[in-house]
Amino acid sequence: MIVDVITIFPEMFSGPMSTSIVGSARERGLLELRLHDLRDHTSDRHRTTDDYPYGGGPGMVMKPEPLVDAIRAVRDLEPDEAPVAVLTPSGRTFDQEFARSLGSLDRLILVCGRYEGIDERVFAHADMTISIGDYVLTGGELPAMVVIDAVARLLPGVLGDEASSEDESFSEGLLEYPQYTRPAIYDGISVPDVLLSGNHAAIAAYRREEAIRKTARVRPDLIESARLTDDERRLACDARKEIDRD
Ligand code: ADE
Repeated sequence: MIVDVITIFPEMFSGPMSTSIVGSARERGLLELRLHDLRDHTSDRHRTTDDYPYGGGPGMVMKPEPLVDAIRAVRDLEPDEAPVAVLTPSGRTFDQEFARSLGSLDRLILVCGRYEGIDERVFAHADMTISIGDYVLTGGELPAMVVIDAVARLLPGVLGDEASSEDESFSEGLLEYPQYTRPAIYDGISVPDVLLSGNHAAIAAYRREEAIRKTARVRPDLIESARLTDDERRLACDARKEIDRD
């Protein structure tokens, strides 16, 4: 997959995007990350990318010309169409399903906003907007890296064990079950016996129950839309009641 990023801070990407799984995906050619400096698409001596907002108000607004010029230039790097996504707190909320849909693309162009906002006319040149959550960061660079990280680990061959991106939090609409490794007793707390039993069916049943309990306690909103049997829904209800009693 090729990901093009348009930003005024390409240097922000060097550490996180060269380390660990994303770094190795790039080294192995599974992910190609191309960083484009927005200032290369300015035409004035100061390489200006922002200006005062019409109508007044605090902060600066990103000018449309450099952004649209950059989007056009980056689009034209390849013959095939590539969707353009603008990172903005007013975008569509990013989640695992959104990550999966982006992961199926051959190419994606990410546009990082800065300052107080982006001139509205830029959005006519975008196919989608992405917000990584209901909070405001200083720019779209960290959100772009979050999106790249989440998408990269879903690309075929990126994770050693193909199953590990399947069998995890959110895949089933539930949080992940608790995990344990050695030692079997740590700090006086034992690993649940069932995990040492070698009984795969019992282990799977235990993990599913724990995932439901944990989701009901921590993210009851996810329980609503999770696919659960009647018994499982009762289990979720009981886990929720336990919290209300505490
Ligand atoms: N830019 C600033 N905050 C953001 C957010 N939460 N998501 C995406 N882009 C942003």
